[in-house]
Amino acid sequence: MADCERLQEIARAGSYIDKWVGSTTDPSSIYKNITEGDLPPLPDACRERYSFMAIYLKDTGAIVGYFDVYHGYPDAHTVWIGILLIDPAYQRQGYAQEVVEGIAQVTRDLGYTELGIGVHLKNWPALRFWVRQGFDRIVKVAGDAEHSEMTFAVVSLRRGL
Ligand SMILES: CC(C)(COP(=O)(O)OP(=O)(O)OC[C@H]1O[C@@H](n2cnc3c(N)ncnc32)[C@H](O)[C@@H]1OP(=O)(O)O)[C@@H](O)C(=O)NCCC(=O)NCCS
Repeated sequence: MADCERLQEIARAGSYIDKWVGSTTDPSSIYKNITEGDLPPLPDACRERYSFMAIYLKDTGAIVGYFDVYHGYPDAHTVWIGILLIDPAYQRQGYAQEVVEGIAQVTRDLGYTELGIGVHLKNWPALRFWVRQGFDRIVKVAGDAEHSEMTFAVVSLRRGL
């Protein structure tokens, strides 16, 4: 909780993607994610399977981002990454890549076989990033059927572990 204020500041800094995802960033959602979790639509979804993690630099301890994961969504052998955000001031320095490698290593050791992520189609810097991290299988496209300035869609991507 001591990090909540800095994490909310990072959420605000990341709100430049709002126009690509069709929603408005609410920094108070960080507090909710830490305290209650952001659980998937499963009948047996539980807080214990959800993790919200701050990303710290090894040398200075500065917080440069955050991510959350749910263990066992949409199926028992998959870990779902809900969000990964790096403070724009720290982007393009390889931090997100290092985080994804860490998530892959830990989840592989836990026995999971897949990672999944939902990316908005208009967020092409993120699409490029995730494909480079090996998320090369499209399993679903959801959202608005027609393309326009005010419509949005999300693509679900998967990679094996
Ligand atoms: C997507 C996101 C997490 C990537 O974070 P990042 O820390 O910038 O990612 P990395 O630095 O590991 O890699 C990003 C790019 O920088 C490049 N890069 C890595 N190290 C670099 C360096 N030292 N110098 C220059 N470029 C570098 C990588 O090749 C990569 O290139 P690409 O975009 O063409 O794939 C970040 O852009 C972000 O937070 N976006 C907003 C939130 C979002 O859209 N999240 C994803 C949806 S859930």
